[in-house]
Amino acid sequence: MAEPATLTIRGFHIHRGWLDRAAQAAVLDDLRGVIAAAPLVHPVTAGGRAMSVRMTAAGRLGWVSDTKGYRYQPNQPGGAPWPPIPESILSIWRALGPGRAPDCCLINFYGAGARMGLHQDRDEGDFSFPVISLSLGDEGLFRMGNVERGGKTESIWLSSGDVVVMGGAARLAHHGVDRIRFGSSTLLPRGGRVNVTLRAVAP
Ligand code: SIN
Ligand code: FE2
Repeated sequence: MAEPATLTIRGFHIHRGWLDRAAQAAVLDDLRGVIAAAPLVHPVTAGGRAMSVRMTAAGRLGWVSDTKGYRYQPNQPGGAPWPPIPESILSIWRALGPGRAPDCCLINFYGAGARMGLHQDRDEGDFSFPVISLSLGDEGLFRMGNVERGGKTESIWLSSGDVVVMGGAARLAHHGVDRIRFGSSTLLPRGGRVNVTLRAVAP
């Protein structure tokens, strides 16, 4: 197998093909277990709009959004704790991230037509830790911007198995997913894109 290529755009470190197909399938299998314990939901924004992405989480803390706003919390909306972060995902953090373990593994599912607007990840307590993202399934057009709102942006198609490390200068940079190429990957039998992000939330 060829060495995975790494490129840096605006401080975002993009590791192409960090997971091979077998490792991607193993993570997906583990995610099915997480989703069985913590079902995917369309989060609602404080303004009352349902997001097009479906989400769930694993770990000590999960990220939720409802009409009261968004936050990290130790329980699912139904009250149960979040399932543990699978070892297959923790090992990505250990290979690329700093010493301590992540508190949250956020799981986003993009069906046909789903997108995520430009935003910052700034609900975590300590920005010295990166956010590490893994893409699985269909390709997604990932847009990278600036810490400040507006200005020039650059986009790249993320493929199944790609890992992005958002740390340092990119930790608070705006980013989002404009669209996916539904059906471009055969990893998910019914199509769609999964993005998993690992986060150190507690200070
Ligand atoms: C996110 O910013 O939470 C998700 C990014 C992605 O789907 O690649
Ligand atoms: Fe984000």
